[in-house]
Amino acid sequence: MTTTEAPVPVRSPLPQGLAGQTAVIVGGSSGIGLATGALLASVGARVVLTGRDKARLDAAAEHVRAAGGDGAVLVVAGDAADEQALAETFERAGAVDHVLLTAGGLGGTGPLTDITRDTALQAMDGRLWAALAVARAAAPRLGAGGSITFSSGAFVSRPVAGMSAPLAAVGGVETLARALAVELAPRRLRVNALRFGQFDTPLSRGAMGAGPGEAGDAAVAQAGARNPLGRWGTPEEAAAAALFLMANPYMTGEILTIDGGLTL
Ligand SMILES: NC(=O)c1ccc[n+]([C@@H]2O[C@H](COP(=O)([O-])OP(=O)(O)OC[C@H]3O[C@@H](n4cnc5c(N)ncnc54)[C@H](OP(=O)(O)O)[C@@H]3O)[C@@H](O)[C@H]2O)c1
Repeated sequence: MTTTEAPVPVRSPLPQGLAGQTAVIVGGSSGIGLATGALLASVGARVVLTGRDKARLDAAAEHVRAAGGDGAVLVVAGDAADEQALAETFERAGAVDHVLLTAGGLGGTGPLTDITRDTALQAMDGRLWAALAVARAAAPRLGAGGSITFSSGAFVSRPVAGMSAPLAAVGGVETLARALAVELAPRRLRVNALRFGQFDTPLSRGAMGAGPGEAGDAAVAQAGARNPLGRWGTPEEAAAAALFLMANPYMTGEILTIDGGLTL
């Protein structure tokens, strides 16, 4: 006899509906992941932050606690592609409702002629394998209505030269989100991806050689002036899209672009 799963639970689709729920942010000590942690805390969610650097994580936890709410903040250091570290994270996290993966750089860049199997595998490991590993660790622990959200970027739809390996990996992450949305739907789990444009984070500042100070601010303002809305997005604006995907029980299989019109 085949069992019929109950439909995905009806809950408030508003961010406030996340109060009392637990979200693991893999890559939560900086940028969009950190902003998501702070927004989640402000609506009363419990937050688990991971990253490789323990000192950065501790500072991030302070920032998230300061955002308010009653939810606890837990930090666990580890690499997003390391299955053992992920297992420990979810073990320590306990009951989990949502997972956001923001970790991942752009390893393996270079022109086609320079790409080796090693550099290609490095790009795949940091992005595609990390997403698979996070989903493998998270899925058994999530309950009906729970969600996994991956990160992608606007370069996937508008590639630039010299990034074929990492962009192929990130494109694979988008496909993985859709494939897992189908595979995990019988368990009423949801899987989505966010395709980010340009947001003002340490990653994007670093990519153009801009630091955190006034000179960096000026460089960001100058770069953002070329965008349709006249600036880069804030990490909080990106984070709000993550909360939307977590909170809305009817969102799955979606690649949600948030780019201020950059790719129009
Ligand atoms: N910002 C943008 O404009 C933009 C645009 C397109 C796409 N994205 C994507 O959005 C995501 C978040 O970007 P962001 O700008 O917020 O980056 P960010 O400021 O550099 O933050 C990345 C976070 O992930 C952690 N991390 C990096 N590699 C990790 C690994 N291997 N294992 C575990 N943790 C790791 C970092 O901490 P540690 O370094 O201490 O581990 C940090 O907490 C990334 O996937 C990025 O590619 C961003």
